[in-house]
This record gives sequence, C-alpha cells and structure tokens, in this order.
Amino acid sequence: MDIRFQVGGPSHWKADAVMTFVFEGEGVEQACSALAQNALWLGIAPAWRDFRGRKGESVMFYGPQAMEISRVLGVGLGKAEKANMTVFRHAVGTAVRRCREYDLETVGIDGASLARVARTLGVSFDALVREAVIAAFLGLYRYDRWKSEKSDHEDPRSLFLMLEGEFVEDAVRAQARMAEAEARGVMLARDAANDPANVMTPSAFAEKARSVASKYGMTWRALGPSELKAEGMNAYLAVARGSAEEPRMVVVEYTPRGAEGRNPVVLVGKGLCFDSGGISLKPAKGMEEMKGDMSGAAAVLGVMEALGQLAPSVAPKRPVVGVMACAENMPDGHATRPGDIVIAKNGKSVEIVNTDAEGRLVLADALAWAQEAYDPFRLVDIATLTGACAVALGLDAAGLFASDDALAAALHEAGTRLGERNWRLPLWTDAGLAALKSSCADMVNSGIREGGAINAAVFLQQFVREGVAWAHIDMAAADNADNPINAKGATGFGVRTLLSAVWDDEGEMLQ
Ligand code: BES
Ligand code: MN
Ligand code: ZN
Repeated sequence: MDIRFQVGGPSHWKADAVMTFVFEGEGVEQACSALAQNALWLGIAPAWRDFRGRKGESVMFYGPQAMEISRVLGVGLGKAEKANMTVFRHAVGTAVRRCREYDLETVGIDGASLARVARTLGVSFDALVREAVIAAFLGLYRYDRWKSEKSDHEDPRSLFLMLEGEFVEDAVRAQARMAEAEARGVMLARDAANDPANVMTPSAFAEKARSVASKYGMTWRALGPSELKAEGMNAYLAVARGSAEEPRMVVVEYTPRGAEGRNPVVLVGKGLCFDSGGISLKPAKGMEEMKGDMSGAAAVLGVMEALGQLAPSVAPKRPVVGVMACAENMPDGHATRPGDIVIAKNGKSVEIVNTDAEGRLVLADALAWAQEAYDPFRLVDIATLTGACAVALGLDAAGLFASDDALAAALHEAGTRLGERNWRLPLWTDAGLAALKSSCADMVNSGIREGGAINAAVFLQQFVREGVAWAHIDMAAADNADNPINAKGATGFGVRTLLSAVWDDEGEMLQ
C-alpha cells in the first residue's frame, strides 16, 4: 500500500471509499459536514439511523455508484471525552481491515474529520496523520507465510490523505513519511519475531540483518563462537552451549553523512531465538511463545530498517549502532549446568544458578562489549527479560530502568505518545545486589522472586560503566498482542520508542 495525498477539499477527492470519524451521538452535520456538502447523498444516507459512533463500530454508507465518492466508511470513536489515541489507532485498523475485506483498491481518509479528531484529542494535525498512517499499515499486517490457503483479499493499493487546502504542508508530508518508515520497521520486527525458531535461528537472523544493512549501505558484522570467545564473552557463550545453533552477535552501524567520528547512540537487543530455559527447563505450557524471546533484537533491527527508509531526509546527527545478541537456550550434554561459574567480559564472575535467567547473561556481555567498542553517547537495551515485569505492569506495558533521568523522561514520553507504554521502575542497586549475592562468585544470575524485574535490571547495571547514559526496557509480555492494529502474535514493540531516541541529541526535541 502506498501513501498519497489529495488536496483541494471534498469536491476534488476521489476514492473507492473515504473513511470519516464519528464520536458517539454525533450526526452527519457535526461529524463530516465538509464531506456531506460535496457528497450530498451522505446527508440522507439511511444507515445514519443505526450508526451510533460507538467505539469499535463502523458502518458503510452507500451513495449513487456514479459519484466520485460513493462509499463513506463511518468509523466510531466512542464518547468524545473518553476517546484517546489508542481508540483512534484501533478505529483506523478496524476500518482498513474492512476495506480490504471488500476488496477496495483505493481508500481515503477525510482530512477535515482528522482535523476535528486532532482538536478533540489535543494533538497536532500532523501528529494525527502519523498515527493514522501507521495504524493503517499495522492494521493490515498479517503473518501468513505458512498458511497454504491464503486470504484472497489483497491490501488496498493506495491510502489517500485527503486534505482541504491547496497544498500539502511539509510537516504533514514529513509525518506521513515517518509513519511509513516506522511501520516498515515494526512490520519487519513482527515478521522476525513471528518466524518460528526452526527458521529464525541466530544465523538466519544475522542474514536478515545483513540484508537490511546492505539495502541501505550500513555496515554489518556478526560475531560467532570464536569471536565471542576471543572477546571474553563467557556469560553470552554459556547460554548458547547447549544448542546445536551457533550464537551470533550481530552489529549493524548506520553513519549518516556528517555524523562520522561522533559518539553513537547504541541500541542493544536480546535475541534469544528460542528460550527453552536450558537445564532449568521451562514447563511445557506456553513454551512455544519463547520463539519470540528475540523480540528485543527484532525491535533493534526494525529501528535500522526504519532509519534506512528515512535516510537521508531526516538523518540523525549521530551514528546509530544496533547490537543484536542472538543465541538459543537449549538443554543438552554440553549445556551450562546450574551452579556453573563464568567470568563475564568485564571480569566479573557469575554463578549461573538458573539457566533460564539467560537474557541477562547475553546482555551483560553485549553491553560490556558495546561500551568498549563504541564509547556510546547513549546506550539503550531492550529485552523480553522477566515474567516478573509482566506481573508488575500487566500485558500492555514495558518496564523502564535508567541511570539517567533525562533519558528516562524522554523514553517515557515517547512511549506514551507513540502507543508503546512504559513505566519507570527503580534501579535499587543495594536491594538488587543483596538479592543477587553469591557464596562463591561475585553474583548469581537469578536471585529471589520478589522484585524480579528490578533484580534483573540491577544485574545488567553491573555491566554498565559509571556515567554512561543507559536505559533498559523490559518488554516481556508487551511482545505479544491481538487487537485491531496487531494480528495475533508479535507486536514489534519498542521500534517506535527506540527510533525516537536516536534524535534526542543535545536538547533537540524527540521526534
Ligand atoms: N524470556 C524469559 C522471560 C519471559 C517470560 C518473556 C515470559 C516473555 C514471557 C526469561 O529468559 C526468563 O526465563 N526469565 C525468568 C527469570 C527467572 C529465572 C529469574 C522468569 O521471568 O521467570
Ligand atoms: Mn529464560
Ligand atoms: Zn529468555
């Protein structure tokens, strides 16, 4: 689906269907008077009798077939005072799915209606355009590569943003472009995380990253077992020992013109292509979901894809480095045993008392390596790290930990605004270290259940140097969803939030 513009107001608009938004209790005059002035039939369409504008409701209004606009899809947003951006995104997702169901090729969005919704929600018009475009892409996303019988409904060919003025403002065009780039990143992350573990192995992930890098002229490298060994990354290697699949730490660097030599923004993702728990084996129920334990790495690759899509129009001022720490956690005769002790890259010894607390082992070495290799301006990691985080915050939010208040505030604001909610949790180092006390090594990898997400974050903190602006996003649980902008499965959570972090540069506003 491509994104296009039509200008000049309703008398110049043309599409198989035009989407318009209606708050509960509104009639045609309040909801879409501009549209109705040009599609006169809309004012007297009988279906208004039954359309209430409720949340989740949508009604197709039909006019005479010869008209330029002969279908209007009324999309309910519920009560105006309760509506929010999530309601809006879901409404768009529901609407585009319905258009696809009807095999419509061109779908428009009534810009006058968008402007009204923007005022009601208290956001700018161009910000709402961005959300509309991304919701349209994400609503249409489906993961059907293994279905032998695919749906015979194709995505609409074009989505038209139908504007009232004579030209498209730069800010609107920029936000639409941004949305499309973000959507491509999110969809790539979803594909990678939805792919099963027998396909999306660490090596396959590395190849996928290589193709992203080469498409956009970014540099790519992948560290295998011998390189990881040479780098002293024994905690990382301990996780991969029991698997027939070799680990790969994949590194993609994007250096925009003019950013050469500056300290980069470094993004690190947990890439457990499958997490069986290892010798500390997980229970059978739900274990299949652990194919998605590489959602952090997938989100990082999604950011690189989005940056490639955007380049060079809005390139960040610093290089961006994606470090994707891929491995598979399996039990076998070579696997790490509970009680084994390893020396991590930064020289700290870790007693691995639970092989299912593997994400922090992989990330510990990846974080230590990234600091040594890049001296980052900012370091953000993202991981499906602890079930405890989901217990604390529910299914639709990530935990946020940070060594830096400004970075935490920026990531919290971005996540909230972009529909990837996160909530800051404390980095209580004393409590975390007490929970991680080992009798024979510097620390254990898994302490008490209480405060599990904090303990994991404090574990990671032991591998981050003093003074580095670091944040950690624990996205366990937020990596899956089933809603109008998310076909059941992977979410691509984090792509938008992390992408926003590459621009927040010396006081520059977050995008
Ligand atoms: N990948 C899991 C965390 C997870 C659980 C993600 C559920 C998504 C959904 C992680 O590696 C893990 O197993 N964590 C353990 C840590 C414990 C052993 C300290 C957990 O949360 O139980
Ligand atoms: Mn685990
Ligand atoms: Zn895991």
